[in-house]
Amino acid sequence: MSLLKVKDLKTYFSIDKELIPAADGVGFEINKGEVIALVGESGSGKSVTALSIMKLIREPGKIVAGEVLFNEENLINKTEKEMCNIRGNKISMIYQDPMSTLNPMIPIGDQIKEAIVIHQRIKKAEAKKQAIKMMELVGIPDGARRYNDYPSQFSGGMRQRIMIAMALACGPQLLIADEPTTALDVTVQAEVLELLRNLIKEYNMSVLLITHDLGVVAEMADRVCVMYCGKIMEETNKNNLFRNPLNPYTKGLMKCIPRTDDQTDVLYTIGGNVPHTSDYPKGCRFSTRCAEVMEICREEMPSLTQVEENHLVRCWLYNQREGR
Ligand SMILES: Nc1ncnc2c1ncn2[C@@H]1O[C@H](COP(=O)(O)OP(=O)(O)OP(=O)(O)O)[C@@H](O)[C@H]1O
Ligand SMILES: [Mg+2]
Repeated sequence: MSLLKVKDLKTYFSIDKELIPAADGVGFEINKGEVIALVGESGSGKSVTALSIMKLIREPGKIVAGEVLFNEENLINKTEKEMCNIRGNKISMIYQDPMSTLNPMIPIGDQIKEAIVIHQRIKKAEAKKQAIKMMELVGIPDGARRYNDYPSQFSGGMRQRIMIAMALACGPQLLIADEPTTALDVTVQAEVLELLRNLIKEYNMSVLLITHDLGVVAEMADRVCVMYCGKIMEETNKNNLFRNPLNPYTKGLMKCIPRTDDQTDVLYTIGGNVPHTSDYPKGCRFSTRCAEVMEICREEMPSLTQVEENHLVRCWLYNQREGR
């Protein structure tokens, strides 16, 4: 059963008369209990897609087309008041940098308690008990004693755990996690990911996980959407992605993963740079960097086409002009 269905989402920024198509016809679905990863290089439109789902796009950005169906209701048509009720209640978001969301002046326990009180309308004493439980659930030992500590008294990993506690306080149906562990060092990252994975299962949540780290994808995701320059380039389940990546862009991202059995010290990078929005090529947006580029790629944008079961690719190598 589909919980979230994003259809042909277009979110554009308009700066100095230039139109930046940050999300340019993005579409995907998340079923109940499913973890979808959105991957791609910096600037590909991952965060803009997430913020569009939450209707948090502000000037000079605008959602110009598309639908965001959550439980079959189109969020694009909701008022700000209705969205406030949905955000942090049915849909929660965690970001890369907890310090931008946590209030440095308020003890951690009270911040978690507030998140609970707002959404559950229960007595403060009861909410405090729940907040302490949440702290322990996300692995902050001795929650009762640390309840009155301020954000600055916690390490980065602990702060991220607190963010997770706040995001889960209301029991959301959908969790959007935008690079939740990027700022953490590798060991702490592994611990926080394990915590997230356990909680996702326990709460049977659907998750949109944004990451540029394919290692995180391998650990966490059921299905993956690969994004480049505002477009989905490939969508498939995790096994297909790692065993049989089809789009040359996806293959390039795969080659960028450091391998322990590799003798060389040099890490592969995809040649060239992501083109600036004003320089998007006429055809496929990856054509300027693609190792397998053909004439048609520079002329016409391929469509996202199904090439096998559960596997969609936007690439002329698989997409004959006659169409399938
Ligand atoms: N507030 C804004 N004003 C102008 N342009 C923006 C704004 N936010 C995003 N963009 C543009 O939209 C495009 C997509 O940005 P987005 O933040 O979604 O990328 P991303 O995939 O999340 O990258 P990263 O991995 O660096 O977080 C970029 O070209 C970016 O410059
Ligand atoms: Mg981002």
